[in-house]
Amino acid sequence: MQTHLRGRDFIGDLDFSKDEVETVLDVAMELKRARAMGAPHAYLRDKALAMLFFFTSTRTRGSFEAGMAQLGGHAAFIDSETTQISHGDTAKEIGEIFGRYFDGIAIRQCDWQFGNRYINEVARASRVPVLNMQCDVYHPFQCLADLLTIIEKKGRDLRRKKVVVSWAYAASYSKPISVPQSLILQLTRFGCDVVLAHPPEFKLMPEIVEQARDNARKHRVGFDVVHDMDEAFRDADVVYPKSWGPLLTTTGKEEGKALIDKYRSWITDQRRMELTAEDSIYMHCLPADRGLEVTDEVIDGPRSVVYDEAENRLHVQKAVMALTMS
Ligand code: CP
Repeated sequence: MQTHLRGRDFIGDLDFSKDEVETVLDVAMELKRARAMGAPHAYLRDKALAMLFFFTSTRTRGSFEAGMAQLGGHAAFIDSETTQISHGDTAKEIGEIFGRYFDGIAIRQCDWQFGNRYINEVARASRVPVLNMQCDVYHPFQCLADLLTIIEKKGRDLRRKKVVVSWAYAASYSKPISVPQSLILQLTRFGCDVVLAHPPEFKLMPEIVEQARDNARKHRVGFDVVHDMDEAFRDADVVYPKSWGPLLTTTGKEEGKALIDKYRSWITDQRRMELTAEDSIYMHCLPADRGLEVTDEVIDGPRSVVYDEAENRLHVQKAVMALTMS
């Protein structure tokens, strides 16, 4: 067990080694059990976390805030729009100053080709751990919660389990590519055979796909990219279909919308779920565009694990905070 995480940042999925992620999962399970038993686990008494949001959130905000309280500390919600960040506080200033007030700085900044750079700039200036609550490249805490959920449903040995990370149609907005990127990076280290499915215009960052391929080679698992949703779903043990924007093809709003609209048929419905293994599970990080990305029948159906998945955000985040900020 690798436990040397105190003081560490968690910005990209691969910042923690596979052994360190195993430690996070073990601690998360222990904390989940402690909460279920009503057992105290105030590992961060008198500690404070800054939660700096440049984008809206339901689950991430709620779970970090509740998690800090359960660990005996406090989380301060800071909205970029209502601080002097909107008038020019720089990333370096935030790192320096919040690093002196708080024991950890968590940031959500998803602006394409900016968010990850911003978080790293804060981290360089900060004397306390910086945690990525989602950027343009990674959503590492979502992915830890997803991994914990898959393990709970399918067992710790995920070898030969087929996990499909698929694009899905949505009309609400051009969503970040960080969730599928984190999934293909992390799951290829944990024994799953990963299939990435998307229409040709919805590619992920080539360097991330290459890292996933390297992980797959190193851990002797499958990693395939296909452009057909039905083909991907066939015999899958886990399906994780969600929308993302065509950011590698175009950042133009109208052009992007036209590309998204070409693929309205990429919905997860009962017919598609029947292509998967008999005991398959349906996952989504939420929020989902109901009726477009997925039918109500599937997301509210017996194979959907979306609420367990959302709950696990709390437990993995508490584990990382306890390990890095204590
Ligand atoms: N899945 C997720 O990150 O949800 P929020 O955007 O509501 O935080």
